[in-house]
Amino acid sequence: MAQTLFIPKEIDANEPRVGGSVETVKKLVGLGFTVIVEAGAGTASRIPDREFEAAGATIGKTTDIKGADVVLKVRRPTSAEIKSYKQSAVVIAMLDPYGNDAAVKELADAGVTAFTMEFMPRITRAQVMDVLSSQANLAGYQAVVDAAEEYDRALPMMMTAAGTVPAAKVFIMGVGVAGLQAIATARRLGAVVTATDVRPAVKEQVASLGAKFLAVEDEEFKAAETAGGYAKEMSKEYQAKQAALVNDHIAKQDIVITTALIPGRPAPRLVTREMYSRMRPGSVIVDLAVERGGNVEGAVAGKIIEVDGIKIVGHLNVAGRIAATASQLYAKNLVAFFETLVDKETKTVKINFDDELVKATVLTHGGKVVHPNFASAAATPAAAPAAKPAAKKAATAKAPVAKDAPVKAEAKKAAPKKTATPKAAPKKTEGEA
Ligand code: NAI
Repeated sequence: MAQTLFIPKEIDANEPRVGGSVETVKKLVGLGFTVIVEAGAGTASRIPDREFEAAGATIGKTTDIKGADVVLKVRRPTSAEIKSYKQSAVVIAMLDPYGNDAAVKELADAGVTAFTMEFMPRITRAQVMDVLSSQANLAGYQAVVDAAEEYDRALPMMMTAAGTVPAAKVFIMGVGVAGLQAIATARRLGAVVTATDVRPAVKEQVASLGAKFLAVEDEEFKAAETAGGYAKEMSKEYQAKQAALVNDHIAKQDIVITTALIPGRPAPRLVTREMYSRMRPGSVIVDLAVERGGNVEGAVAGKIIEVDGIKIVGHLNVAGRIAATASQLYAKNLVAFFETLVDKETKTVKINFDDELVKATVLTHGGKVVHPNFASAAATPAAAPAAKPAAKKAATAKAPVAKDAPVKAEAKKAAPKKTATPKAAPKKTEGEA
């Protein structure tokens, strides 16, 4: 009998994405699974039940989870959800496990085999499974769209009979996946774009997208990229030089978009109130790092605020603001990984625990927490919140990747990357440079 795969409706009201798309459901049915999609699971991502049905799924109800051998979802399941899972079910999602040891233990106690997509190594073979890239790319795009929405002027230069409208000046701070897409999007809208980062490799990428690079290019800058391709935390001296350089620049910008992150650390503070108070009234700042402590002084997670006539945008789940596209790409990431867990002959799940993708992403299996970064979670009583901070500290300290593992609760995105084997060249899609 075919194994059953369940795609639930996300419980979190702020999560419009879904772990399946029409394309991926077809694929999953083709792999030999009975696919059940919970009624309404795709509504917020603009996938009606009938489209899932036409792709070969059965539309089910929440309780159908009980019989599921596989669950594909977006966010970490709640305790109630975990309790309803079949023992030995395979659960694949963005489990956001750092700082959530008790939840990891709950997954283990339920006997499920849980994989977390954010831990996918950034190697060539796994590029199609890289949820951090697929979602950050869209967040970079959406940040520009959000800025344009809040900005009361036009972005492109317009020469009209009534006069010339100058192009808006957009400054992108932090040029990883999100920053590159933000540059490309702002350029397409006709803005004059400048960008900064602490990694020298970025300079060429910025130029290739038609933007101007601005940075303090001293000795520290030359050594600011880690072997894994990420930024180091810069010294106080460098930060002061960087602030002096961008201070005058920001004063002349109409829109600033910040995306700067450092693995294992809180987001660096790049824009102070003193800096933005010199901008023209109506200027807009979008802080994509707001969930990790923020790059911008005063930015509030989940809010748009106005300070000194400047709008500061701090939306949460920015990829979720473009849910239909985000779900399409996320579902593709999921299915590309899931396919590697399927035995094509028996058409059932057969996990090879020696596979590097499995090793990097599996958190729990056979009633145990198996990921080395969560060794201490295994010893954490599931319902002992008081023990959480200590357990978290121990988990990061013991991790084989401890050097770059998160040291702060807010630095959740960081450590997954450190499971990566040496970085392959990022995929060259339009706008990702
Ligand atoms: P991220 O989300 O960790 O950080 C965003 C950006 O902020 C980075 O470019 C970083 O250098 C910058 N930053 C940090 N501190 C800063 C400061 N003080 N001032 C200015 N900028 C600062 O980065 P993301 O997007 O995850 O990309 C990191 C690396 O991973 C890049 O080298 C990227 O090319 C690579 N990558 C590799 C992939 C692959 O091999 N499959 C896929 C995607 C990305």
